[in-house]
Amino acid sequence: MKRSSVSRWLLLLMVALPALSMTAQPVEWTVNTRKTIADVNPDMYGIFFEDINFGADGGLYAELVKNRSFEFPQSLMGWKSFGRVEVLTQDAPFDRNPHYVRLQSSGHPHKHTGLENEGFCGIGFHQDSLYRFSVWARTQGDEAQRIRVEFIDESNAVMARKSMKIQGENWKKYSMEMKATRMVNKGKLRIFYENRNTQAIDLEHISLFPKATWNNHENGLRHDLVQALADLKPGVLRFPGGCIVEGTDLATRYQWKHSVGAVENRPLNENRWQYTFAHRLFPDYYQSYGLGFYEYFLLAEEIGATALPVLSCGLACQYQNNDMSAHASMEDLQPFVQDALDLIEFANGTIDTQWGALRAEMGHPAPFNMKYLAIGNEQWGAEYPERLQVFVKAIRAQYPDIQIIGSSGPSADGEKFDYLWPEMKRLQVDLVDEHYYKSPEWFLANAARYDNYDRKGPKVFAGEYAAHDAPSAKANNFKSALAEACFMTGLERNADVVRLATYAPLFAHVEAWQWNPDLIWFDNLRSVKSVNWYVQQLYSQYKGTQVCQTYSSDKQALSGQDGLYASAVIDKEKHQLILKLANANEQPKDWSIALKSLKEYHPQAKLIRLESSNELLENTLDAPYTVVPKEETILIDALPLQLSMPAKSFWVIVLDLTK
Ligand code: AHR
Repeated sequence: MKRSSVSRWLLLLMVALPALSMTAQPVEWTVNTRKTIADVNPDMYGIFFEDINFGADGGLYAELVKNRSFEFPQSLMGWKSFGRVEVLTQDAPFDRNPHYVRLQSSGHPHKHTGLENEGFCGIGFHQDSLYRFSVWARTQGDEAQRIRVEFIDESNAVMARKSMKIQGENWKKYSMEMKATRMVNKGKLRIFYENRNTQAIDLEHISLFPKATWNNHENGLRHDLVQALADLKPGVLRFPGGCIVEGTDLATRYQWKHSVGAVENRPLNENRWQYTFAHRLFPDYYQSYGLGFYEYFLLAEEIGATALPVLSCGLACQYQNNDMSAHASMEDLQPFVQDALDLIEFANGTIDTQWGALRAEMGHPAPFNMKYLAIGNEQWGAEYPERLQVFVKAIRAQYPDIQIIGSSGPSADGEKFDYLWPEMKRLQVDLVDEHYYKSPEWFLANAARYDNYDRKGPKVFAGEYAAHDAPSAKANNFKSALAEACFMTGLERNADVVRLATYAPLFAHVEAWQWNPDLIWFDNLRSVKSVNWYVQQLYSQYKGTQVCQTYSSDKQALSGQDGLYASAVIDKEKHQLILKLANANEQPKDWSIALKSLKEYHPQAKLIRLESSNELLENTLDAPYTVVPKEETILIDALPLQLSMPAKSFWVIVLDLTK
């Protein structure tokens, strides 16, 4: 529609633009809709997954049994045993997980033998949902034997019960479905050996999954949690960490090769976060690797994200290891480099290559088309570039199209950062990973951070960031989310430099977390999207394709002057002009927005408002919609656009450019 005929639309007015408050001169902001200054990377806004806060085992990975293979150092951790139960290793079916249990008859009709698993902070059962119980088992002799499987509720009553026949001296997988008859948040799984004779039965890899996992994969992921990721429309998925890539020591680093192949034979790894904070100790925190690299690649594909794996560069966590002897020496680096080359083959190689064949065998003959690879997480010192250089050389030689990501250390400023950036330029990595966990005030003050970055050097991957509001004990409150929204106008305005951005961390179990704030919180049955999640979603959903040139009356980008922040993008595919505006002030602010060179637009526009009466409010499991965006239709009947934003608010305005 032509602007001249806009008046006709006045009759259709549904929701009027908020009237100007008339308190002060409006801030003048100009969007040059014909001059674009950068292309937005379609992968730009993504997610960073790390197994922290019981994000994988006990979280996203839908397995409900803790220590299913009896491989925790205390073999029966997570289990209670009664009667005659032994842990054995001889003649085990899985060489990398050799422990299993032998259950023997008590020899008395009124005595029982069995096991009970406590799950991860209990086992959550949804009423009327089906669960798949499976176990590897064998009997002594060929006579059929039985186990009885029960779901137990919080009052220790049996909620579901089913018997399973096991027969044969060779190890075999048995499985059956069971229905939960009511909702239980903290249930248990109990198994009785039913025989009363003198024989024994051996059990290994005792597993229980909800049948309805994401896309119904057997070795699947929790549906609600993946849905919360898919709803973000993420461009990229960074995994598997974080610090767990480095490990408390090299022995406990994440080893991708241990995380692929038959799930029963993926060796257990100690989670680096189990000891990290003694005041929040979780000595039962291990990685089953059930959610392994194959599952990560598949997840990325299924939620439309580009996979971005991170691998160890041969340095164990440098926070925890000062002594160079803790790290791989230069002479010992080759296996680490080979891991990187083999990973690219696993993801992208044809099925006649060794690792491509394994991917195909696991169910995905087509390549995953991986294009990013990060080497190292939060590394520092000369020891890092020295090692990274070897990786860069080897990867460039064999896979010149892979975009290599280097680290700028654990903070986005300071000595380590200042040393590493020039080193990353020297090594000509494609992107540099920056991490910043800072106060909301820092985020508000740093929206112009990238305005003067070198346009010719490596690009930026804001790989971990979150506003930490110390006075509220780092709550996921509106205050932190608004600060991130303000700051992110700067990411968007500098989309030619900042090519990727991922908030961190992603998940946290409400009863078993080490680190906060986090994007999504959950218990055994429910999950909640933080206010910060909604900010991420608004940026991702409305990322556009090109950044418009914008400026305020001082001819500068609006990056915090007078507490106001703004950016604008064009979406050439959807034919939209998208404005993002943030007011961090305690008072409302009036705007006068010139949309330069705008020829035609539809006067009915979409306005999405993220606001809160109290900046300390947050979304919780019991009140998940406390602060969420509200959408309305507005009529833009004249330009410049005049509007008044309430105090502490973040708005997205979407104008349709089609007639
Ligand atoms: O996101 C939590 C941790 O913060 C990551 O594991 C690490 O990279 C950073 O220190």
